[in-house]
Amino acid sequence: MSEEIKIAIGSKAEQYQALIPQIKGLVEGEPDLIANLSNIAAALKFQFNWFWVGFYLIKKSKNKEEELVLAPFQGPIACTRIAKGRGVCGTCWLQEKTLIVPNVEEFSGHIACNSLSKSEIVIPIFQNNTMIGVLDIDDDKYDQFDATDQQYLEEIVRLIPSS
Ligand code: SME
Repeated sequence: MSEEIKIAIGSKAEQYQALIPQIKGLVEGEPDLIANLSNIAAALKFQFNWFWVGFYLIKKSKNKEEELVLAPFQGPIACTRIAKGRGVCGTCWLQEKTLIVPNVEEFSGHIACNSLSKSEIVIPIFQNNTMIGVLDIDDDKYDQFDATDQQYLEEIVRLIPSS
């Protein structure tokens, strides 16, 4: 594994195309989920400098329903637990599909972990056909995410080795 991520310049698609092989190199041969999520969050934050990049994992607490629990991230502190169907992350979990929110103030039920967040994309993560969590990215500018992000971020979460 390489110890450094090389920042790419160019269009957003070109930046993803340069980053993806590096992420592949980071996670290849590493079976530990937390280690891999940590490096992916760091690589995405380093390349794109979004406001918040991180993961929530679906976990069952003792005597409780399953919920999303905060996992490796880069950025300000965040909410630790999100119920299914709540907020953008919980809705992504319920619908098992990527959600792009150009203006979080217009998303009914959005959970404002930080008032500076303005737009958001949430990508479901599947392993062996089961959803295990989400990749959540927030930016402090409106309308920062589109179909290009969806395409490449969905590709990136498919690189995470099954644990
Ligand atoms: N805004 C998210 C909560 C997680 S934070 O943005 C890190 C939501 O509505 O689910």
